[in-house]
Amino acid sequence: MKVTALCGSLRDGSFNMLALQAAQKLAPEGMEISIESIADIPLYNDDVRKRGLPAAVAQLRQKIAEADAILISSPEYNYSVSGVLKNTLDWVSRAPEPPMEDKPVAIIGASIGMLGTARAQYHLRQILVYMNCFAVNKPEVFIGMADKKFDENGELTDPVAIKLIGDQLIALQKLTIRLAAK
Ligand code: FNR
Repeated sequence: MKVTALCGSLRDGSFNMLALQAAQKLAPEGMEISIESIADIPLYNDDVRKRGLPAAVAQLRQKIAEADAILISSPEYNYSVSGVLKNTLDWVSRAPEPPMEDKPVAIIGASIGMLGTARAQYHLRQILVYMNCFAVNKPEVFIGMADKKFDENGELTDPVAIKLIGDQLIALQKLTIRLAAK
């Protein structure tokens, strides 16, 4: 089972990127998670889309199309998803053949605040409804106070987060199998 992962933060040392790297190690047997960069995705412009997809967009759409499932980790910016993630999803959501349509999606998030991106994750779930994706409902993974949850090597050390990510990936695996059997 191939999972394409997207990180909603572009900064070096991003806690959300570290969370995705932790997920790679916690993936259940048979699941492979590859993290695809969104750093080169340009700002969405429908005129540009009509002229032809920019290379970075076409490449990412291809990776998403080839994946069985998607994993997203985003910071919360002003109570929502980051602009760079929303911009990327806008590119991915449009014709021709939006590659995330019908795909299962798991959501995690890390923030230095107490709520661990809860508010952003509910916005993301709403976006995924329009994109006709199937989000894993439970368990939710909110990594609050992220500055205290990773060690100096960037390893996730919080046992609760480790357990939740592992359980969520199993839920993603089950949902992917169920959707494929339709
Ligand atoms: C934040 N941060 C933040 N945190 C939060 O819990 N709720 C919020 O609404 C916001 N809003 C917000 C806006 C902007 C513009 C920035 C730059 C930051 C703090 C955020 O959680 C923190 O910077 C994380 O470290 C960002 O995630 P990465 O980059 O570590 O993955």
